[in-house]
Amino acid sequence: MKSKLFSKFNINGIGELKNRFVMSAMTRGFADKEHCSTNEISNYYAKRAKNGVGLILTEGIIVHPSGDGYNNVPHLCNEKQMQSWKKVCDNVHSYNTKIYAQLWHCGRISHEDYTKGHDVVSSTNNAAGGINRQNQKPYGKPRALAKNEMNKIYDMFQYSAELSIKAGFDGIQIHMGHGYLIDQFLDANVNNRQDEYGGSIDNRIRFSLELLESLKNKINLDRVSVRISPSRIMNGLYEWPDKYSMLTKLLKEFDLIGLRQLDISCANSNYYETSGKIIREIRHLWPHILIGGASLTKKEALEEVNKGYLDMVTWGRAFIANPNLVDLMLKDLPLKKFDNSMRGSLI
Ligand SMILES: Cc1cc2nc3c(=O)[nH]c(=O)nc-3n(C[C@H](O)[C@H](O)[C@H](O)COP(=O)(O)O)c2cc1C
Repeated sequence: MKSKLFSKFNINGIGELKNRFVMSAMTRGFADKEHCSTNEISNYYAKRAKNGVGLILTEGIIVHPSGDGYNNVPHLCNEKQMQSWKKVCDNVHSYNTKIYAQLWHCGRISHEDYTKGHDVVSSTNNAAGGINRQNQKPYGKPRALAKNEMNKIYDMFQYSAELSIKAGFDGIQIHMGHGYLIDQFLDANVNNRQDEYGGSIDNRIRFSLELLESLKNKINLDRVSVRISPSRIMNGLYEWPDKYSMLTKLLKEFDLIGLRQLDISCANSNYYETSGKIIREIRHLWPHILIGGASLTKKEALEEVNKGYLDMVTWGRAFIANPNLVDLMLKDLPLKKFDNSMRGSLI
C-alpha cells in the first residue's frame, strides 16, 4: 500500500491532488519589466508539475506596487499581468497539478525604489531594522495606515484574488508571515497602534480578519490558504511574543470566518525548532488542512503525515535543486543539495 504522503488528497473546493507534496512559495526575481510572468517561469513550474508535485504555491506575487520591495518580482494588479499567468496555470494543469498564487504586500519591507511613487505603508511609523538586501539601502520610515485606508488594502487583495481566478489558479495563498504587511499588524513587537487595529490580540488580528472577510466577495474561502510564521528563523530565531495566546484566538476566528487551509512557515528552517513545535501545540485548535515542512527527509515527512500533524508537506529549496523530488523520494534516491548559485537561474 502507498503511504499517505504519496497518495491522493482531496481539498474541498479544489479537488483531488495527486499526492501531498507541496512546492513552497519561493521568490525568484525573473518577472519581466512589466512584472508579468514569462515563458521561462512557465517552464520552471511545469517541470515540477510534470515531475509529480501535487500542489505548487507560486513565488510571492505583489498585489499592488505600494507593496513591492524586491527586484523583478511579479505583480497581479492588471489584465496584462493576469494574462501572463494563464499560460503558467494551463501548463501546470496539463500535468494534473494544482497551483495557487501567493498574494503578497511587503508593507514596511517595501522600498520607495520599488513602489512607483506610492508611500511605503505599515501598521506603524517605525522603520524595520537592517537593510533591504535587494538594493542594499536601509528600510525607509513607513507611514502608518490610517483607519480609513484599510479598505484600500483589502481592495488590492480582492482585485488580485479576482485576477488569480480569471488566470486559472486553483486557489490563492495570502502571505501573512515573514514580517510583511499583515504580520506587521499581528506582531506585538511591531504593531504599536493605539486604535482598534493595535494593542490587544483582538485588535491586532482585526486587519487579517477584515481582509479575509472582504475576500469572500470574490472567492470561496475553501480556495484560500493563509501562511503565517509565528516562530521562524530569519537572522536567528524570531517569535511572536504572545504566540500561543495569539494563535488560540486567531485560529478560532479563521475557522469561524470559513478558512480551511493553513500553512505554518518557519521561513528558513529548522522545522522542529519552529513550526513543527507550533503544530504540535495547535493541531487540536485547527481541525482543518494544515500545511508545513522545510527540508524534511522522507522519513520525517512520512512521520509528520502519519502522526496527523501535517496534511500536506512543503519543500522549498529541495524543489529548486530537484525538479523530480517526488520521484527521488519515492524511490529512496539521493537528493541534489541546494546551493546559492541555483538562485541565479530558473532551471
Ligand atoms: C529563494 C527563496 C525564496 C523564497 N521566497 C518566499 C516567498 O516568496 N514567499 C514565502 O512565503 N516564502 C518564501 N521563501 C521561504 C520558503 O517558502 C520556505 O519556507 C523555506 O525555503 C524553507 O523551506 P525549505 O527548507 O524546504 O527550503 C523563500 C525561500 C527561498 C529559499
